[in-house]
Amino acid sequence: MNELIYEIEKIARKAGEIMLEAKNEKNKGIEMKEGVGNIVTKYDKLVQEYIEAELKKLLPESHFIGEEEDMQEDVLQRGYTFIVDPIDGTANFARNLNLSSVSIGLLKDGEQYMAACYNPYREEMFLAERGQGAYMNGERIHVSKKKLDQAVFSAGSGPYYAELREKTINMFATYFRLANDYRRIGSAVIEICDVAAGRIEFYCEERLQIWDYAACTLILKEAGGKTTDFEGRPLNFRGPSSVMASNDAEDYLSYLHEESL
Ligand code: IPD
Ligand code: CA
Repeated sequence: MNELIYEIEKIARKAGEIMLEAKNEKNKGIEMKEGVGNIVTKYDKLVQEYIEAELKKLLPESHFIGEEEDMQEDVLQRGYTFIVDPIDGTANFARNLNLSSVSIGLLKDGEQYMAACYNPYREEMFLAERGQGAYMNGERIHVSKKKLDQAVFSAGSGPYYAELREKTINMFATYFRLANDYRRIGSAVIEICDVAAGRIEFYCEERLQIWDYAACTLILKEAGGKTTDFEGRPLNFRGPSSVMASNDAEDYLSYLHEESL
């Protein structure tokens, strides 16, 4: 893999260490953001500031899009653009559940190029470069081959969009009737990396932001999986999207369209 990915890895690891410093701290400086139950802690901001400053030093010509800032430049189509979620699983982080991840995705001329997702609690570093495979802690990873009847799946829904809850319940019910079991961790990044590592078979959510899916979906693709929106189209990184992230063992979306719409 290109040396650049290992530089990004170092930044993700250090960001994870900042998250660990907050472990068991009761008041993490929680503030409310727009939407239902949407919180931010002082660490989301701290970690993002750290990552942004380091990435600028690493690739000064790159653009930066992060979750914890209002401005979103229209820079996705040219040159290098980092898309960062400093702490995916913020609600877990605030509750000391130890189920959160740093996520750094890099696009080159609008296409996914590199990805680093680091879960400091499990000390798991997922890395991928386009065309070069996906790795966890240096070991090549692959999706599982299990089909829906043997599948463990996760169907997410942030609490932020009240209008999507019914649809999510229907989607969940559809798959739960047909699958082996389900899990819900509360971090789309961790769950999609878990699909990539062959631990679960698919993850789906009605609306994910680009910083939720920019890195982990490259890791999944490089591990042999597939990601599309609910219409089966490729993700385009221009804005929020529905996401089906799977081991590609069968057409999971066909069940969704048949039964829950
Ligand atoms: C959220 C988590 C959650 C998913 C939400 C995301 P955040 O990210 O990934 O699992 O269901 O849609 O927004 O807010 O914890 O960074
Ligand atoms: Ca997130």
